[in-house]
Amino acid sequence: SAADLGTLETMAADLAREAGRLIVDERPSGLGVAATKSSRTDVVTVMDTRSEDLLRERIAARRPDDGILGEEGDSIEGSSGITWVLDPIDGTVNYLYDIPQYAVSVAACVGDTSTPGAWRPIAGAVYHPVLGEMFHARAGSGAFLRAPSGVHALAVSNVTDLDDALLGTGFGYDADKRGRQGELVARVLPRVRDIRRAGSAALDLCAVAAGRLDVYYESGLNPWDLAAGRLVVEEAGGVVVGPGGAAPTDVLVVAGPTALVTRVQQLIE
Ligand code: IPD
Repeated sequence: SAADLGTLETMAADLAREAGRLIVDERPSGLGVAATKSSRTDVVTVMDTRSEDLLRERIAARRPDDGILGEEGDSIEGSSGITWVLDPIDGTVNYLYDIPQYAVSVAACVGDTSTPGAWRPIAGAVYHPVLGEMFHARAGSGAFLRAPSGVHALAVSNVTDLDDALLGTGFGYDADKRGRQGELVARVLPRVRDIRRAGSAALDLCAVAAGRLDVYYESGLNPWDLAAGRLVVEEAGGVVVGPGGAAPTDVLVVAGPTALVTRVQQLIE
């Protein structure tokens, strides 16, 4: 129900804010790489783990029947029909280098989160702790940015021509796929106003929702990079699609106003 969605949205924002403060306030000065995962680029710091542990504790205490899918821990299958999809630090490489462009992403989702394209977010929040920017949305109610300057309703850009489009993208960590990602960028770069690779997919999606980027695409995204930001874009009047215009998956995510999304798809698919 609408009331439940509001509760989930508030909870997502509360969790993202608490974890966001943790990662800023307790960032060790000599922060190093605690472990690498799929490749040497795919790093995890102690703070990724601490942030996710905090999020998991809060969810277990407040909604013990929900499932959890997080970047750093084992999946928990719930019984309520809701799964929390968590990115404890999106933009981990920025965080490692102390580049202030990273976020905590928290989304309540329905469907089968273990199958690409078979789930969707119904409430979520992305918190940029350094700027104090909270992007949040719930299904059917619009997307909002709560910032030190006030509360702003979000709307995607009205640019329709690729020539006029500032395009965001990112690169997955899988070393084998990076050559192909480079080829795609080479095809796109001469066709757009310019490209940004800011280093946090969740914030890239929120930037699209806020009109700070006109369009965004990436191949190789994980569910936790996508979940909350996807809803923020959709509720800001944009579309988020995957291969062939179907649901977004790890294979492809394109987000923005409909006209631009179609043009980017034509270019890269
Ligand atoms: C990464 C960032 C990056 C994107 C990668 C993601 P992480 O997430 O969102 O911008 O290009 O595909 O994996 O590892 O920092 O949570």
